Amino acid sequence: MKAIQVGSIGLGSISRGVHLPGIEKSPDLSLYAICDLDPQRLQEVGERYAVPESRRFTDYRQLIACPGVEAVDISTPNDCHFPIAMEAVRAGKPYCLEKPVTMNADQARELAQATEAKGLKSMVCFSYRFKPAARFARELVQRGELGRLYHVDMQYFQAWGLPAAACKYVWRYEKRRTGSGALGDLGSHALDLCAFVTGKCVQSLVGHTGTYVKERPLLDGSGMGQVDVDDFSNYMAQMEDGISASFQITRFAFGRGNYQRMEIYGEKGALVYVLDETPDQDELYLCLGEVGRETRAFQRLPIPQRFRADQMQAFADRLLDKEDGLAADIRDGLANQRQLDAVLLSAQEGRWVQP
Ligand SMILES: NC(=O)c1ccc[n+]([C@@H]2O[C@H](COP(=O)([O-])OP(=O)(O)OC[C@H]3O[C@@H](n4cnc5c(N)ncnc54)[C@H](O)[C@@H]3O)[C@@H](O)[C@H]2O)c1
Repeated sequence: MKAIQVGSIGLGSISRGVHLPGIEKSPDLSLYAICDLDPQRLQEVGERYAVPESRRFTDYRQLIACPGVEAVDISTPNDCHFPIAMEAVRAGKPYCLEKPVTMNADQARELAQATEAKGLKSMVCFSYRFKPAARFARELVQRGELGRLYHVDMQYFQAWGLPAAACKYVWRYEKRRTGSGALGDLGSHALDLCAFVTGKCVQSLVGHTGTYVKERPLLDGSGMGQVDVDDFSNYMAQMEDGISASFQITRFAFGRGNYQRMEIYGEKGALVYVLDETPDQDELYLCLGEVGRETRAFQRLPIPQRFRADQMQAFADRLLDKEDGLAADIRDGLANQRQLDAVLLSAQEGRWVQP
């Protein structure tokens, strides 16, 4: 069968690191057209993936209108997600969209409604759903191994915001381009992963956000840019079934690369999912048995092969009606965006907010 012809928009680090290699690896997808504002990047990617010049665009509307493009893959900065995904919907083309899905919940709602009204398929790149340890954790929770859940405690830590890392004023520090800082960047994944593993909804949130470095050097060397988004975001969530969850999210965690840790405590057991404690590895630890005797008896679980999954293949599987149902769609993206908005409002107003 012919591979689905994908048009990829935004050829930056996540596209070149995950999306394009994923498309190349999938027998069900082919990279048909590409788009980026940066002509040099367009040329490099075009040559690397043998996309002819006639199918390289700097205007996303032209890529979407290109008759051979059957599905649209969007990895631009956050402010472009909504207009590009809406254009794909108008053209009747399914899309794969990076997170956070939009700049706010109003946009996400409009996009979800438009997508559903046209009966189009969508996938949102909550990538950690594809970590085998997270998938195994989800299965253990759903099988009831931990019993009723009481607590989820999630950390997502990176270090590149620290002054010593000397990161310049990239779009991630500019509210009008990114929506929020560490919250939308990392906190969106943490909220989604918590919902994915527990299968439970967030009902109310209270948050605290802050910015340590208030200005950073502009990329062109012409001065300083004002940072108007959060460097860290800590929040608590009241979840369905009385689960009390807490989240710590920061780009100021010295020594951390892409570190995640989720601890889940239930009535019959506990599990710990951890990413990047051992470089790039996801791991799962479980503690079951009698409450007194098993104290501190967490054991590392071997992760069965069947939990291996690939994000871009999941997009293909969704388009071909052979998916496992575990990838996020625009409804999940909307729920997530409502939670991000709730944390920001809560941090501003100092009160609990329902998403
Ligand atoms: N799922 C994940 O784990 C993950 C990881 C990193 C980034 N992301 C998300 O991916 C998106 C991109 O992040 P990145 O780190 O690759 O950014 P980046 O800055 O490295 O790349 C963005 C690219 O988009 C291009 N671009 C900007 N506006 C455009 C437009 N209107 N049309 C076409 N191209 C345009 C830029 O020229 C650049 O090449 C963001 O939404 C980010 O949150 C997700």
